[in-house]
Amino acid sequence: MSASLCEFLPWDSGFFSCRIGRVKAQRLYESDLEQIGDWAQQERIDCLYLLADPGDPRTIRLAEQSGFRLVDVRLTYQHPPGVDRPAARDLPSVLLRPAQPGDIPELEALAGQLFTGTRFFFDDRFPPEAGKALYQTWIRSSVEGYADCVTVAEAEGRIAGFITAHLPAGDAGARIGLVGVASFYRGAKVGQRLVNAVLEWFHARAAGPVFVSTQAHNIPAQRLYQSCGFLAHSTGIWYHKWLTDCIPQVRKS
Ligand SMILES: CC(C)(COP(=O)(O)OP(=O)(O)OC[C@H]1O[C@@H](n2cnc3c(N)ncnc32)[C@H](O)[C@@H]1OP(=O)(O)O)[C@@H](O)C(=O)NCCC(=O)NCCS
Repeated sequence: MSASLCEFLPWDSGFFSCRIGRVKAQRLYESDLEQIGDWAQQERIDCLYLLADPGDPRTIRLAEQSGFRLVDVRLTYQHPPGVDRPAARDLPSVLLRPAQPGDIPELEALAGQLFTGTRFFFDDRFPPEAGKALYQTWIRSSVEGYADCVTVAEAEGRIAGFITAHLPAGDAGARIGLVGVASFYRGAKVGQRLVNAVLEWFHARAAGPVFVSTQAHNIPAQRLYQSCGFLAHSTGIWYHKWLTDCIPQVRKS
């Protein structure tokens, strides 16, 4: 088969203890299905991800006919340089500062609660503790160097929120990774302050447009990005197809 149609995902596979692959194209053709099936069998794949183009009816039909299940509708926003941002309301009791290794336990506790609207919770084959562990690992790795910048908002001696940012070399765009605000501090512009701080960080590094993705059903996140000047950029439909009975599980490290 054309090796280029699918790829094995070593990180996801190792993390969830299942063999996970993804279809690389966002559009499918009839002739792709057999090749994808052969590749998955040859690679002993348990789960295949597909990020489909919602604007292509043939792809949606083929995905659904061949056993892919919808797990998320992704919206990607773009912040074009030069768009005015509203000034955040001043909240003197909130301190923004770079995350430190000592913040990791508190950040992990927060990240374990915040991202339950994502595809790893929507797809009930992933046990909730596996989804929780994914976001805890994500924030921990971000502080340990996976992200180029992690900023926390501190209020009343606690971490009220955080944001992670990636500025890869080359053509890959500047991206916001994770943003989260503890439920007690929601609606007080903590999210807006974090996003604006990271936009300043990108701006100081002459980054081009900044991208961020969220779920179509995540209205608070969309309103947050819109209030900071982001514009809709692209959409995608996440599908998962399970080919075996494998149950994802996360080994304690
Ligand atoms: C999304 C999130 C970070 C927002 O944080 P926040 O500190 O409450 O947001 P802010 O107070 O800064 O609000 C910023 C804007 O979003 C809007 N907003 C925030 N929460 C909202 C809600 N529940 N419903 C509608 N709009 C909302 C605000 O009205 C504000 O817009 P405005 O300037 O027009 O008033 C927070 O809800 C959260 O942590 N959610 C769980 C994690 C998550 O989904 N993260 C994003 C994943 S991609």
